[in-house]
Amino acid sequence: MNLKEVKDIARKKMKGVCNICRECDGVWCRGMVPGMGGAGDGSTMQRNYSKLREIRIMMKTLHNAKNPNMKYEFLGKMLETPMMIAPITGLDYNAGGSIKEEDYIDDIVNGSLECGTIAMIGDGGNPDFYKWGIEALKKVDGNGVAIIKPRENSEIIKRIKMAEEVGALAVGVDTDGAGLLVMASMGQPVGPKSKEELKELVNSTKLPFIVKGILSVEEAKIAMEAGVAGIIVSNHGGRVLNGTISAVETLTEIKKAVGDKMVVIADGGVREGMDIVKFLALGANCILVGRPVIWGSVGGRREGVKLTLDTLKNQFYQGMILTGAKNLEEINIDMVFKG
Ligand SMILES: Cc1cc2nc3c(=O)[nH]c(=O)nc-3n(C[C@H](O)[C@H](O)[C@H](O)COP(=O)(O)O)c2cc1C
Repeated sequence: MNLKEVKDIARKKMKGVCNICRECDGVWCRGMVPGMGGAGDGSTMQRNYSKLREIRIMMKTLHNAKNPNMKYEFLGKMLETPMMIAPITGLDYNAGGSIKEEDYIDDIVNGSLECGTIAMIGDGGNPDFYKWGIEALKKVDGNGVAIIKPRENSEIIKRIKMAEEVGALAVGVDTDGAGLLVMASMGQPVGPKSKEELKELVNSTKLPFIVKGILSVEEAKIAMEAGVAGIIVSNHGGRVLNGTISAVETLTEIKKAVGDKMVVIADGGVREGMDIVKFLALGANCILVGRPVIWGSVGGRREGVKLTLDTLKNQFYQGMILTGAKNLEEINIDMVFKG
């Protein structure tokens, strides 16, 4: 099985919700939430894609970066590449019935490990989604991260305990899910978090705590002051609020403000290996990949997920060679073409 075959199968199965476009730019699927697209007219998802493509990187070929080391240590866990699978839930209503939620979770948790990395499991309106994610993590000795919706703190803490029990590497909250009406309509209210509420969550666990959905220096600092171990600079794939900026536009300022005091992860629009080079050059320590993994799972199950990740990994390796980076530290802002 190759990636083209995987995508062809996924395109057939996802007919009507995802076209697996040559350019996954958020145009065909605009407004398709539920679905695979971006909210509203889809301009935020489109911006994720276009702003990342506007970044241009210098090619270099006269150097000694022959066997780049792309290993990345994430909170004590060594990964083959600075790439993890983004938390994604609600496949039953978002992916047009093309895959069952439990099967998707199984594919990403195991497919990521087979590629030398890990997945983040998510939480959704159906409380079973999180439970199934935890069950999948249990089977792999907790090798993954649990991202919980911004429910009431007492509800989050219950779910943090579940993650602790299976030995998850870290826990977190996608605070940008604060306005999700679909959660409320399913009897699972969510809302924003004050610094004090965030501190309570951080102090409720010995596990590293991550906040997903930061787009400003101001909020990155609040997270840092609350004691979080890492942030994910993200707009949720353009699905929660149309009209925001993309991670690419704010990442460098955020990294400058927080330095190495927190892990800085970023996502939105990663479709090829050079996108990882770009995100790292702009200041990320690591990236998350979202939609391409769904196609992998729908089209080829666990093998399809591994193929998707392996392809990105190989392209990233090639990108390091052709930009002269011997290791991840050598990927920096000087690589970005200023025009
Ligand atoms: C169908 C779908 C469902 C998602 N569900 C969640 C979720 O439950 N929790 C979460 O934190 N993010 C969720 N996200 C956002 C992703 O974690 C990630 O931020 C985004 O997909 C990255 O952009 P990309 O798809 O362009 O790579 C979802 C995204 C999609 C497309």
